Amino acid sequence: MVDQLNTDIFGKVHMGYLVVGSRKIAEWKDFATNVIGLHPAFDSSGELAFRMDEHARRLIVLDDDAEDVLAVGWQLDSDIELQVTLDRLARRGVSVDYISDGRAASRGVASFHQFVGPKGLLIELFTEPTLDKSPLNMLCSGFVTGAAGMGHISLMSREPEGCIGFWQELFDARVSDTISLAAGNKTVLDVTFLRLNQRHHSVAIAATRGRPLDMFRTRINHFNIEVATVDDLSFAHERCAESGFKITRGVGRHPNDQELSFYMMTPSGFELEIGWDALTVEEASWQEGKSYSNMSTWGHDIPGRFSSELGISHVVQIIRSLSGKEYLPW
Ligand SMILES: [Fe+2]
Repeated sequence: MVDQLNTDIFGKVHMGYLVVGSRKIAEWKDFATNVIGLHPAFDSSGELAFRMDEHARRLIVLDDDAEDVLAVGWQLDSDIELQVTLDRLARRGVSVDYISDGRAASRGVASFHQFVGPKGLLIELFTEPTLDKSPLNMLCSGFVTGAAGMGHISLMSREPEGCIGFWQELFDARVSDTISLAAGNKTVLDVTFLRLNQRHHSVAIAATRGRPLDMFRTRINHFNIEVATVDDLSFAHERCAESGFKITRGVGRHPNDQELSFYMMTPSGFELEIGWDALTVEEASWQEGKSYSNMSTWGHDIPGRFSSELGISHVVQIIRSLSGKEYLPW
């Protein structure tokens, strides 16, 4: 019997896959294959899957009205961590489904547990990815995955304490650091960076200071994947610039994880950050409690920042976010 209260599963949880629901299947196929440069692994009747490494599926796109991320899969090292997590969910009264049918095959896993997480994002837990060791056919030399997982997600929450607490209680997440942005002499935005393993953050939670607002229609505002070399980053930037897809933030470097990156708009209206050279956290020497006052050491400029399209959709979203409670599993 595992003592779930005293078992620390930090370091044993890794972002495994991302499931998008979209009607823009053809655009996603073009974006994932020709812009990101992922390995096309599956393409049939409204379902796409892409590889980045030996996992049979990392990015999955399903024909669905959502135009949003439907689910994020989290790989747990063994049945011990899975049981600890399930015990914690049971203690909180969260209803969890066990799925081992075609939906598991669609995720590229033997089976998974699923429940509704913050903002209605489905959280899926698995221990056994299906592996495909056939050669990769990608437009870049490789991605940083392994113990660091597939990458990170960033979301904006109107209940940041509850949202941060969720990841801490479920996965023993640690706060790597924070960024607080000011307008004039007033802090307007706080971002908390949560790590689950050696990657500086697997989840970032952004929150407006004072009145809680959500500036985004989608559950996440971006997800991040990390390429192996600076040439990979540069070529991805070139491919995006030459495509019909939009670069939403130019190349820049973040002050905390020190990642060199740029951002693109996906066909479903949330962003993808492609990065390189993010630091690996050494637990023994990591200095907790650091806070930064800018999002970027340099760069990450927003082309067309004041376009009316962006302005109107943001205003509508902000007004919507003033009413209703944000979903949290507990
Ligand atoms: Fe990011």
